[in-house]
Amino acid sequence: MPDLRTRYLGLELRNPIIAASSGLTSTIKGVTRCVDAGVGAVVLKSLYEEQLSSEGAELRQELFDADHPEAQAYADADISLAYGAKNLIELIEKSREVAAPKGVPIIASISCLSEKWWPEYAAQIEAAGADALELNPSMAGLFAGVAPEKLAGHYLSVLKTVNEAVELPVGLKLGPHGIGLGLIIDLLERGAAGVVLFHRPLRPHIDVERLKLSYDLMPSHPSEAGEVIRWIGNLAGRVNGSLCGNTGVHSVEGLIAMLLAGADAVQLASLFYLRGAGFAHKLVVGLEEWMKRQGYEKLEDFVGLLCAEKAPRPEAYERTQYMRSFLGHD
Ligand SMILES: Cc1cc2nc3c(=O)[nH]c(=O)nc-3n(C[C@H](O)[C@H](O)[C@H](O)COP(=O)(O)O)c2cc1C
Repeated sequence: MPDLRTRYLGLELRNPIIAASSGLTSTIKGVTRCVDAGVGAVVLKSLYEEQLSSEGAELRQELFDADHPEAQAYADADISLAYGAKNLIELIEKSREVAAPKGVPIIASISCLSEKWWPEYAAQIEAAGADALELNPSMAGLFAGVAPEKLAGHYLSVLKTVNEAVELPVGLKLGPHGIGLGLIIDLLERGAAGVVLFHRPLRPHIDVERLKLSYDLMPSHPSEAGEVIRWIGNLAGRVNGSLCGNTGVHSVEGLIAMLLAGADAVQLASLFYLRGAGFAHKLVVGLEEWMKRQGYEKLEDFVGLLCAEKAPRPEAYERTQYMRSFLGHD
């Protein structure tokens, strides 16, 4: 039987398939389903400072409306933010009970806006027993009013404050906007144990009949994986930290393609929404069968085989323009 073990964020995973942070990993039932289906690790649903502070604001308003004497003290103490991690902490503890006996690491995820809460939540998460932490600053950077040229500094400073607060391995889940290879290399050289490329942000949707702005809840499409492959393929072999592919993996072939480009692990959400978390088992079996067909005994026999450093035509990673001389047609 091929050996599917991989290393991700310094942890040993039984295989490279990770349940990405989503509603499916927000309950102990969902986490158990993922673990039983055979995933190598689980990233829990993110704790969003933004959400906690808006819940706090609503509650504050109610207290003021009711002329509640504790309202001001409550507002001053940021209580909903301070206690907001409680649910996540419970989920970490329960998830560890289910996952640890099977050797499946539990990775917590946070997304904050203000400098204050990143290290605060990170410390609480470490104390709760999570195996690693994923930071998701992707869009926060853009909307916190950070100028484009200061974005790199923003990511590096978030990473630094969190690394000073905890000893857990810390990975960053980056969005496709406003980043470059230089920044990713910097993050990996300055304390990130790994990067996830790419977070797929919730997008706006405009209903032209009802003239309504809402959110696009459509799952990802396999064609979105190409951009991830480009970045992973360019970075593999050049950096020391872990590379995790994310977005658009909808099949065994999609999973293997990311590994061939150089991903140490791959996160999935949409596929598990569409086909159920049980599909993780099919991915495991499919990967094993492909490795047997190809004569590979372990992951390192082929991970990164087609990265830019090793591929016979590495220019495919760099080409972005549809030139005739390259494609052979207009
Ligand atoms: C319903 C839903 C909820 C999600 N919630 C989170 C979240 O809380 N934190 C996060 O980092 N990503 C979240 N994501 C993004 C996924 O983790 C993942 O990055 C994205 O869906 C791309 O992977 P996919 O193509 O396999 O779906 C969510 C995705 C979906 C579909």
